[in-house]
Amino acid sequence: MSDPQDLRNTEQNIQWGGRFAAGPGVVMQEINASIGFDRKMWRQDIQGSLAHAAMLGKLGILDTKDLTDIQGGLAGIAADIEAGRFAFADALEDIHMNIEARLTERIGDAGRRLHTGRSRNDQVATDFRLWVRDAIDGLDAQLADVMAALVGRAEEFAADPMPGFTHLQTAQPVTFGHHMLAYVEMIARDRGRLADCRRRLNECPLGSAALAGTSFPLDREMTAKALGFDRPTANSLDAVSDRDFALEFLSAAAISAMHLSRFAEEIVIWCSAPFSFIRLSDAFTTGSSIMPQKRNPDAAELVRGKTGRINGALVSLLTVMKGLTLAYAKDMQEDKEQVFDAAEAWALCLAAIAGMTRDMTPNLARLRAFAGSGFATATDLADWLVRVLRLPFRDAHHATGRLVALAEGKGVDLAGLTLADMQSVHPGITQDVFGVLTVDASVASRTSYGGTAPVNVTAQVKRWKEALG
Ligand code: ARG
Repeated sequence: MSDPQDLRNTEQNIQWGGRFAAGPGVVMQEINASIGFDRKMWRQDIQGSLAHAAMLGKLGILDTKDLTDIQGGLAGIAADIEAGRFAFADALEDIHMNIEARLTERIGDAGRRLHTGRSRNDQVATDFRLWVRDAIDGLDAQLADVMAALVGRAEEFAADPMPGFTHLQTAQPVTFGHHMLAYVEMIARDRGRLADCRRRLNECPLGSAALAGTSFPLDREMTAKALGFDRPTANSLDAVSDRDFALEFLSAAAISAMHLSRFAEEIVIWCSAPFSFIRLSDAFTTGSSIMPQKRNPDAAELVRGKTGRINGALVSLLTVMKGLTLAYAKDMQEDKEQVFDAAEAWALCLAAIAGMTRDMTPNLARLRAFAGSGFATATDLADWLVRVLRLPFRDAHHATGRLVALAEGKGVDLAGLTLADMQSVHPGITQDVFGVLTVDASVASRTSYGGTAPVNVTAQVKRWKEALG
């Protein structure tokens, strides 16, 4: 064991030096520092400081000269960070202290006045809300792009039959366009969840200070408005200590990732040689270092796989927040990495899904062939018996079952049975029945609202194209 003295920094603490004789221990500094990740919020931190400074200036808490210096100093810092010229210091713990310390270095005392009526607690809550809000806007645009890609393919393949599955067993023929539009509906709801999250998130914590508010007569409406928030938060304790906006964001992310993972899984299956329902180009395929024939859909697999870390982020932050007393506690610093990581993974998944959706080539002949296999039009036959022979559905179901068994025994599909075969099960069956046994007739008949018929798909495509603009 080394001398515990080695674990101490000799320098005096730069941030709260007045009260402390020595600097933090090395481990203290290491566990405390968030600059390694919260530097991602530098834009939002400067944005927040500019709004706070302008408000202090308007109230005369800062004089004009100080305000101008702060504005110039922050602009200079923004330019430095943008250009990669800013050295972030662990000793300054986080993005807020890094920027403020540099500001003071650049402009002197005016920099030290910026923190009037503000605490890092309301500052970080504000910055983080701004960051999540920006992320929401970017992700929403990506979700819209995925929808546009799916709608495009739905339009192209509105009438092309493919097998529809339940239990991953051939069930009834559907159209490829209908399948694409199923995901459009899911993603539209994902966007709705993000929009809800944004609406509740959009209140400004700035001015809540450490936890109790402040004795300075701040104009909180002014800072809220300047930062694009709908209003200031109404309770200072709540404002600095809840992260439900981040949790809502992560819940929306987890649900969306779950949706994307289902599509990704279908892409993986559809690409496999025994299925061969679609082909992905080289742009979305990787090879194997040992098996020259391989074409692996890694992007789809990774979309499926990244769902794990996005779900993990949600569970992680829920766990961090659980049982925390009011108001701020340092545990909450653990909020950001989860959100940053999930947002990045989600954005990548969306880019990959949009790319693969536009890239994939469906094997229409094979999809059509499988759409009709496995007695997929058995329901159409039963429905015909109900409609034309007026059989009760349960009886029609039974008669159809016997016909399927008959066909299976003869090694043919339903359309391969003769009229005599049909009539051996029910004498009333006529030649007419063969008209409903094709996959095209089957999908065309599914005109109930929300059904798979090509006319429905075309109508829905039109609706989505209008909605997406
Ligand atoms: N880096 C901190 C965080 O992310 C900022 C707030 C620190 N507040 C404090 N009282 N130590 O939570």
